Amino acid sequence: MSHKTVKKVLLDREAIREKVADLGGQISRDYAGKKLLLICVLKGAVVFLADLMRAITVPVEIDFMAVSSYGAATESSGIVRILKDLECSIDNKHCLIVEDIIDSGLTLKYLKENLLARKPASLRIVTLLDKPERRQVDIAPDYCGFQIPDEFVVGYGLDFGEQYRSLPDICVLGE
Ligand code: IMP
Ligand code: MG
Repeated sequence: MSHKTVKKVLLDREAIREKVADLGGQISRDYAGKKLLLICVLKGAVVFLADLMRAITVPVEIDFMAVSSYGAATESSGIVRILKDLECSIDNKHCLIVEDIIDSGLTLKYLKENLLARKPASLRIVTLLDKPERRQVDIAPDYCGFQIPDEFVVGYGLDFGEQYRSLPDICVLGE
């Protein structure tokens, strides 16, 4: 893998912190009086999940799924595989898929259909980032942190070749 450097900070930690607090508030109001299962899509969404769950005031449980739509490359292969499934049943539960970023939308479209077949009480999507220009299938998040331009970003959980996940800000990679 060629070495890349961080070109610029797109969203700094303070902007992310404010947005996550905002999303947590919205979600808490919408699910008032209910319990919520947060379904975190590994690995990129773990940092977002960790912050978001602490910004939600209704009782939450968490579970994890791992799917792959990419190899080491930055272009979508269009192939979605479940690498790790949920540990719990979602039958009759209010579920919220927690994603780091929606790009082509292929991953989420597959995931949503797969989870709906398990008969949850409800199913919504929260994503921190959305690149609407890149969409190949018709899918939209119910809650979205930021819409961003078509640039490859890393940090705050997002990787390039498993690197850069621990950067506290969301950054654009250069060549
Ligand atoms: P989609 O199926 O094309 O929507 O891809 C979604 C997944 O691709 C995300 O959950 C990320 O893991 C990854 N991805 C898409 N764009 C980026 C990016 O700009 N940086 C890092 N990962 C990305
Ligand atoms: Mg990834």
